[in-house]
Amino acid sequence: MAAQIIDGKQVAADMRAELKDEVAKLKEQGIVPGLGVILVGDDPASRSYVTAKERTCEDLGIYSDDNRLAADISQEELLALIDKMNNDPKINGILVQLPLPKGLNEGEVLLKIDPDKDVDGFHPTNVGKMVVGEKAFLPCTPHGVIQLLLRSGVKLEGAEVAIVGRSNIVGKPLANMLIQKNPKGNATVTVCHTRTKDLAAHTKRADIVIAAAGRPNTVTADMVKDGVVVIDVGVNRVDDATKKKGYRLVGDVDFEAVKEKASLITPVPGGVGPMTITMLMYNTVESAKRAAGIAVET
Ligand code: GUN
Repeated sequence: MAAQIIDGKQVAADMRAELKDEVAKLKEQGIVPGLGVILVGDDPASRSYVTAKERTCEDLGIYSDDNRLAADISQEELLALIDKMNNDPKINGILVQLPLPKGLNEGEVLLKIDPDKDVDGFHPTNVGKMVVGEKAFLPCTPHGVIQLLLRSGVKLEGAEVAIVGRSNIVGKPLANMLIQKNPKGNATVTVCHTRTKDLAAHTKRADIVIAAAGRPNTVTADMVKDGVVVIDVGVNRVDDATKKKGYRLVGDVDFEAVKEKASLITPVPGGVGPMTITMLMYNTVESAKRAAGIAVET
């Protein structure tokens, strides 16, 4: 069976259209959602992610306060900027692009962000709330993965899910979200990682395989069952002399071979990627609604 491709760009565009309408309605009530963006240093990948976030804000009518800081900024200066944003009523969400340059204490920075403005969902307060099933900002990439599955008609309830990768940004929160007793969860989840003894034994059993290992070809066709749903969170640069940039982007899955066995699969690029920014915008709009005392969904 050749898989149907899950078009992340289209799902993201649908959600962004919904958000754009919502932002327009909020503006009629005098509410303008605002996102504070902080990029430290000049890592090219981080720079392009941040630029894409700022452009999306503009497109949806969300105010963005953009801050590009030199790599040698002190921890104190960075914390002071976050404090200023914590106290700025125009800002509903704060995004500090990770990773931070060496010398800055990432844990301390994330702790400084007001949990009510933590639209990345990385603050331990929000992580804890998510784990116990309380209302919290959900981290953008895992929440985007769940939206892609639900909007593609995939049943999560009772599904066997194998997650490959245990990062704080994707694997761990995704596992926690998928086991919640609610419509975005109710799955049976196995989290595999670099110390897993027999990775293929777990992925072969799974109805849904989610690859978030950060390594090309981590999931190959012999490791999945017929009809599996595959979500590829990986973004890896591999050398390619035929490309102008000298590289191309691939995921963690051997896409060409696995798509012949899967029922549904995400491509890289154009799968999970567009959803991450969309969920950041979603959280920023939710935060603005919370700040204005309007009931919210998550
Ligand atoms: N770096 C890679 N992914 C993310 C993300 O989702 N949020 C932030 N702040 N930094 C990242």
